[in-house]
Amino acid sequence: MVIGRGREIELVIAGLMAKRHLLLEGPPGTGKSTILRAVAQASGHGFQFVEGNAELTPARLVGHFDPAQVLETGYRSDIWIDGPLARALREGELLYLEEINRIPEETLNLLVTVMSEGELTIPRLGCIQAHREFRLVSAMNPFDSVGTARISGAIYDRVCRI
Ligand SMILES: Nc1ncnc2c1ncn2[C@@H]1O[C@H](COP(=O)(O)OP(=O)(O)O)[C@@H](O)[C@H]1O
Ligand SMILES: [Mg+2]
Repeated sequence: MVIGRGREIELVIAGLMAKRHLLLEGPPGTGKSTILRAVAQASGHGFQFVEGNAELTPARLVGHFDPAQVLETGYRSDIWIDGPLARALREGELLYLEEINRIPEETLNLLVTVMSEGELTIPRLGCIQAHREFRLVSAMNPFDSVGTARISGAIYDRVCRI
């Protein structure tokens, strides 16, 4: 349940309906995740929650080939395991990424590419086209000293900031 925050909820819904990717900015505990869950549930939209931190490698976000099976069969599409991003792209879900400013540079670059190209190329697997309902919703603490400057240039152009 969300208490208050009517204006923010309106902006989130408007942004999603306008087919924009979103960036929620605010200090920890200001209700960013709570609002997102409430909106996602009410809209019936599937969503994936991912915690952003320094260990969020591209493989963890996108997906990977089952290492044991690769040894037996080589890189085949049936041993590919979708991560949250691949799944959200295919199924047209919301990908909610917390603390986007804390993720490694290469993971961040990948998200920038997905937002600008609307597709994701995975070596040895192929290209995943973004479903038209796919949306990246990220959140960060703008007063955080970790990585906030790095985010601004790459991401701000491609998202609607709330
Ligand atoms: N507007 C709100 N309505 C109801 N609960 C809230 C609201 N804002 C914050 N909370 C509560 O405060 C806690 C932190 O909120 P959260 O959404 O996780 O913040 P953030 O994602 O911005 O760090 C949660 O337990 C949530 O239930
Ligand atoms: Mg949160």
